[in-house]
Amino acid sequence: MPLNKCSNDELSEFIDTSDEWISKRSGIKNRHFVSADETTSDMAYFAAKKAIESAQVSVNDIDLIIVATTTPDNTFPSTATLVQKKLGANSVSFDVQAVCAGFIFALSVAKSMITDGIYKNCIVIGADTMSKLLDWKDRTTSVLFGDGAGAVVLQKFRNENKKYDDWGILSNVIHSDGQFYDLLKTNGGVSSNQKVGFIEMSGKEIFKHAVDKLSFSLDEALKVSNKKITEIDWLVPHQANQRIISAVADKMKIDINKVISTVKNHGNTSAASIPLALDHAVSSNMILNGNLIGMHAIGGGLSWGASIIRIGKPIFLKK
Ligand code: ACO
Repeated sequence: MPLNKCSNDELSEFIDTSDEWISKRSGIKNRHFVSADETTSDMAYFAAKKAIESAQVSVNDIDLIIVATTTPDNTFPSTATLVQKKLGANSVSFDVQAVCAGFIFALSVAKSMITDGIYKNCIVIGADTMSKLLDWKDRTTSVLFGDGAGAVVLQKFRNENKKYDDWGILSNVIHSDGQFYDLLKTNGGVSSNQKVGFIEMSGKEIFKHAVDKLSFSLDEALKVSNKKITEIDWLVPHQANQRIISAVADKMKIDINKVISTVKNHGNTSAASIPLALDHAVSSNMILNGNLIGMHAIGGGLSWGASIIRIGKPIFLKK
């Protein structure tokens, strides 16, 4: 995560809000913002470098880089090609745009490309500089978001652990429904008004869609992988709002103690939120080798999805 930490109290110095309101409505306490000369690719590069070190792979072996982002450094080329350049990698590199669901979408793409047999060492990065899309005059959205990046290395390898008969990404389900386009969007874009735009959100409606669609997709991913919710060791949800996380845990009847929540530390970092939560859970020795993990996310589009994963060597780090 970037170094500039901003607490609710600090935010209240320039926005008409309070720690009490933000904490009660969202569970968020702090977020981090990039510095003036820091970009999405800087955070993404840092996360990717750490993930490569943790995975103990050579950068020369990385053959695929996918960056899930809504906030590229430039409108084009892709942020992934900048990360490739900074790493000095020789890989196919491109971005995936599914806003807060981006990391799940990127995982799904990576899994398909690895399964097809051509790619063997892939970095999937979730990176977003949401602060650049915030309208500081809109207190209903500006208090919820932060900046960050996280990355995982996906590798094609044979399962030599006989304890489990399944391994890696067991299922991925992804969905989109453009009829909900206007519920969460920016009010600008390249081909509409040539502006970047600010976030606009129908908070209450998004809340209801989030609880329904996150639960539905997790259920679907469990069915595809032939697992039950009771078999899940850890659920790593998109970190948008503690109330959404708790409502989904209630609905899915999963023990809240098995649900990783880091939203209070960084707010909604969009595509970065799941890898940041994963990093926290791994570095705190919560997620262990062999654990069965559920992950799910929803974002603008609307776009949503879920994955069920049997963790191999857990490898991801953050900025
Ligand atoms: N500080 C203080 N007061 C505020 C703030 C603020 N930052 N923002 C709004 N208010 C006020 C409103 O003006 C309103 O005042 P009024 O009653 O005098 O009119 C009051 O608080 C209640 O406003 P609501 O919009 O009704 O607040 P609500 O309880 O719906 O909470 C929230 C808003 C937190 C956005 C909620 O709708 C929500 O959690 N939605 C989910 C959206 C979300 O998490 N999105 C993340 C991005 S999407 C994604 O990643 C899935």
